[in-house]
Amino acid sequence: MTVRNYSLAGPDTAAAHAAGLVDADWFLPTIDPVRLRALQRRSNVRAAVDTALWVALLLGSAWLAWWSLGTDGVIWWQAIPAFALYGALYGGAADARWHECGHGTAFASRRANDVVYNIASFMLWRGPTLWRWSHHRHHTDTIIVGRDAEIAFQRPPSLVRTAIALTNLRGGVDMLWRQIRHAAGRLDTDALDLVPATDHRRVITEARVFVGIVGGVVVWCVLAGSIVPALFIGGPTIYGGWLFVFFGLTQHAGLREDVLDHRLNTRTVHMNPVFRFLYLNMNHHLEHHMFPSVPYHALPALHDEIAEQLPPASPSTWAAYREIITTMWRQRRDPTYEAPRDVPNTPGRRAPVEQGRDDLRRRPDGTVDLGPLAAMSIGDRRRVDSASGPLLLVRHTDGVALVSAICTHADVALDDGAVSGCSIECPKHNACFDLRTGDVVRGPARQSLRTHRVEIVDGRIIGTLGVD
Ligand code: FES
Repeated sequence: MTVRNYSLAGPDTAAAHAAGLVDADWFLPTIDPVRLRALQRRSNVRAAVDTALWVALLLGSAWLAWWSLGTDGVIWWQAIPAFALYGALYGGAADARWHECGHGTAFASRRANDVVYNIASFMLWRGPTLWRWSHHRHHTDTIIVGRDAEIAFQRPPSLVRTAIALTNLRGGVDMLWRQIRHAAGRLDTDALDLVPATDHRRVITEARVFVGIVGGVVVWCVLAGSIVPALFIGGPTIYGGWLFVFFGLTQHAGLREDVLDHRLNTRTVHMNPVFRFLYLNMNHHLEHHMFPSVPYHALPALHDEIAEQLPPASPSTWAAYREIITTMWRQRRDPTYEAPRDVPNTPGRRAPVEQGRDDLRRRPDGTVDLGPLAAMSIGDRRRVDSASGPLLLVRHTDGVALVSAICTHADVALDDGAVSGCSIECPKHNACFDLRTGDVVRGPARQSLRTHRVEIVDGRIIGTLGVD
């Protein structure tokens, strides 16, 4: 039986490179660009309502747990249901908020996304910077063995290991130990592979803050002679984490490794409204991987839009689990077995990254005529191919911009990027660029976009290539 090496620096990493599976192009379904733009729209109101509801439930269950403990004559185990509820909302439902705000898609406001992301990171014992990079990799090389650090269920599967993972007891303790090591300045191999050297200090600082808070809770428990403080802060990450594992298992478990088509390695599951709220619609996981710039609340509509190009979704959580357990059972003897997928034979499309074409209408003075301003509404973008490389003409709230059409983080076209105000967001890992200056306003990109001068002359857009 061949045992695969899931580490980020093992023989399977080299094999993934050799097979062309690293930083590769993935299948993308066709979608009307105007419709995609509508689906990419963010809403502070929608995210605020959903977040407020979650926080209210969290505080309400905390009060219930506290009240259960304090009731005269109550026996400790009678408080278990209230703590179970609180733990699931804290250590389980925080994961979906962490995930969505990490992508920057929950709120329209970048600051609001960052605030919720950092709080949820603490609730899950995840270093914010480390996990941002880990998740970028997960989206670049989804379930590519030796590259993706977030392959939770590895082959050959062990039902015992899976059952332990579902409790999050082992995972929670591992996360805590990892933070302690990082706080001591010793980054592990995965962190060294995932995080650029310029961010190492930040990872260490965040781990120290994290360990400091956990240490404070431990001191509080010692002084109070009670574990109750830890049951409210820190502890729920372990005893409530089963919920995010329960949802997370449905995403990729039992599906194919080492393919460049999310339809083969990612699962969409129809879930009930309560699960969808707790999981923030991430049951539409396939659609999310294909279009990470679409916020959670628009994923059901995105599903309807591209459903014909996708394999059938699992009809229920139970059906998904039946498939996962059956597949794992077979994988015990044959780790190469993978749950079959009925993938429609559709050509899809690749994001356009052609170079070298030149379709510019040059004027005698060397400037280029890019057409009438009136033909573009705010948010519209148009590909402009020049001999020096592909450009993107974008109308934003402050005017018109002509910028390089390729994200500086990786070789990804920005044509499908969400335009919001004066910025454009990369459709792959959600980096944001200011269209007026090209500056990066949100990572993981580090380098600015090249900008070119644009003026409006007699109602026409006139560009000067090579001049900012
Ligand atoms: S390719 Fe990663 S943010 Fe653009």
